[in-house]
Amino acid sequence: MKDMVEKVESVEEKSELKNVDLEDLPHVGPAIAEKLREAGYTTVESIAVASPSELASIEGLSISESTAAKIIAAARKLASVGGFESGDRVLERRKKIGKITTGSKAFDELLGGGIETQAITELFGEFGSGKTQVCHQLAVNVQLPKEEGGLEGAVIVIDTENTFRPERIIQMAEGKGLDPQEVLKNIYVAQAYNSNHQMLLVDNAKELANKLKKEGKEVRLLIVDSLMAHFRAEYVGRGTLADRQQKLNKHLHDLLRFGELFNAAIVVTNQVQARPDVFYGDPTKPVGGHIVAHTATFRIYLKKSKGELRVARLIDSPHLPEGEALFKITEKGITDKK
Ligand code: GTP
Ligand code: MG
Repeated sequence: MKDMVEKVESVEEKSELKNVDLEDLPHVGPAIAEKLREAGYTTVESIAVASPSELASIEGLSISESTAAKIIAAARKLASVGGFESGDRVLERRKKIGKITTGSKAFDELLGGGIETQAITELFGEFGSGKTQVCHQLAVNVQLPKEEGGLEGAVIVIDTENTFRPERIIQMAEGKGLDPQEVLKNIYVAQAYNSNHQMLLVDNAKELANKLKKEGKEVRLLIVDSLMAHFRAEYVGRGTLADRQQKLNKHLHDLLRFGELFNAAIVVTNQVQARPDVFYGDPTKPVGGHIVAHTATFRIYLKKSKGELRVARLIDSPHLPEGEALFKITEKGITDKK
C-alpha cells in the first residue's frame, strides 16, 4: 500500500511533457502493461480516456472495475486529460513556445515572429492559394537551426488529399542550403483514407512522437492537409451536421493536445470558395464553420495575387493586430516579395 502511494506521488511529480510508461501507473506491473498494450492501450493518454468497465473487461486482465478506475484516475492526472493544469504549470509550458519561420519576413511579422508551437494555425483559402506550399515549406523550415528560424525538429504530416510531394521538399531544402535526403528522413507522412482514419492517425502520431523522442528526435510540427476534405465529403446534408461538428471538435482538441504535449506547432488547411466581393468585410465562411474558427489560435486567409505573389491575411487573432503580408511562391519555395 505504501508502495502504491509513493508511485502515485511520483507520477504526480512528473511533468506531463516527459515520457511516461504504462508501468509508471499504480497497479500496473509488467504483466498488466503487456495485456493493456495487446488490447491497444499503448499510451497513458489512451488509458486516461478509457472507462473502468472497458479496462476491466479486457481479456486475460483480471482487474476489478474499482482498480481500473484508480489506474484511469492516475493516468488522467498524468495526461491532464479533462483535468486542470495549475497556472504556474501553464506559464512554464508557455515559456517554451517556439516559432517557425514561413520563409518570408513580412509573413513572419504578420504572425508576430512565425508559426507558434502549442497552437493550431489554420491556413484557409481557395484552390491554388498556396496552403499546401506553405505546409511543405514549414516542414523544411522547422528543421533549420534556431538562429535561422527553425526548431531543429521533425515533422508528421497527415495527408488527406495525396498532395505531399517529396520532390517539392527537395527543391525547398536545396533553397535553404539543407541536405534534401536528411530533410526527407525527418518528415513522416501518412495518408488518411477517411475522417475516422484521420482522427486515429493523431493517436498514431503521438506514439510515433514518443518513440522518436526516445531516439532523441523531437516532433515540433504536425500538419493536417486538408483538415476538412474528408469531413466535408462524408457529412453531406443537414441531418448529420451536428455529428460532424462533434467529431471535428474532438479532432481539433486532440490536435491541440498533441501540440501541448510535444511543444509542436499544429498547422491545418481548409479550402474555401473565394468570395471577392467580401474580401475586406467578412472574407469567407470556411467549411467547418464555428468549430474550426473557435479552436484555431491563428487563422490565416491566403489569396492569390499576380503570378507568384500571394496575400496572407490574419483573421481574428486574440493578441495580434489584423493585417496583411505579401509573399511569393518561387521554385525555391516561400520568399519575400522583394
Ligand atoms: P488546394 O489544395 O487545391 O485547395 O490548393 P492549395 O491552396 O493547397 O494550393 P497549393 O499550395 O497547392 O498551390 C499551388 C500553387 O503553388 C500553384 O498553382 C503554383 O502557383 C504554386 N507552385 C507550386 N509549385 C511551384 C513551384 O515549383 N514553383 C513555383 N514558382 N510555384 C509553384
Ligand atoms: Mg492543397
